[in-house]
Amino acid sequence: MSRRIVVAKNTKSRRGNQFDYSEIYRQLRTNIEFSSFEDKVQVVNVTSTMPNEGKSTVASNLAIICSDKYEKVLLIDCDLRKPVQHKIFNTTNKVGLSNLLLGYKDQVDIDDEIYFKRYKKDTSAGKLYLLTSGSKVPNPQELLSSKRFKRLIEALKKEFDCIIIDCPPINAVSDAIPVSSVSDGTLFVCSAKDTNKKDAKDALVQLKRNGVNVLGCVLSKVEDPSNKRYGYYYRNRE
Ligand SMILES: Nc1ncnc2c1ncn2[C@@H]1O[C@H](COP(=O)(O)OP(=O)(O)OP(=O)(O)O)[C@@H](O)[C@H]1O
Ligand SMILES: [Mg+2]
Repeated sequence: MSRRIVVAKNTKSRRGNQFDYSEIYRQLRTNIEFSSFEDKVQVVNVTSTMPNEGKSTVASNLAIICSDKYEKVLLIDCDLRKPVQHKIFNTTNKVGLSNLLLGYKDQVDIDDEIYFKRYKKDTSAGKLYLLTSGSKVPNPQELLSSKRFKRLIEALKKEFDCIIIDCPPINAVSDAIPVSSVSDGTLFVCSAKDTNKKDAKDALVQLKRNGVNVLGCVLSKVEDPSNKRYGYYYRNRE
């Protein structure tokens, strides 16, 4: 697994202080669980304003932390233009979501390891399944806006306790909008180092205009007073 995975084990900060990255993601998981008392938040997608703000890092770590608690967790790489989850989990991306959708006939076999790669930690209660993005397609937005994609997510909801979806940024392409629409909630990542406030505001307006349920923001790349490398902040919807 790549160095972007910070929850696999507790890691020490550069100063040698014990810093529990897992606890940050456990708090995020709890906040998502409590974000709605009415409807279960089962499908969560992760997006941000611009590239490189930490979406894929948040998505992969959150999925791992969810598999500590839930029996079956699925991580889908819906960044069809710049996929990285196969690199983070050190696996191939020969086939994945795009290939699955191409031949999709309303039946999905989650035991087919060609599509659904499985990961299990000794200490976790459940299994993490990874569906990588698959072969490059010329029309990612069309694919992610399709009825077929929507039906696939509906079918996967019957198989998994929890589904985390990695998306591209809002201000680069519109792919995250249709994905957010089929999700129960959207996490919006802001980087303390990179994100421009106005751009983030515009991206949030765009999400809300499309009826997206924004669960809250995760603040990444925070340099905290004790010089710990990783920070997070979650705010409930206003
Ligand atoms: N909290 C963090 N603190 C420091 N560096 C981070 C943090 N999160 C991510 N990074 C680094 O920032 C870079 C981009 O991370 P990541 O791929 O998760 O971003 P992204 O928003 O998914 O990017 P893209 O828009 O290209 O998909 C990586 O080099 C990663 O290691
Ligand atoms: Mg990414």
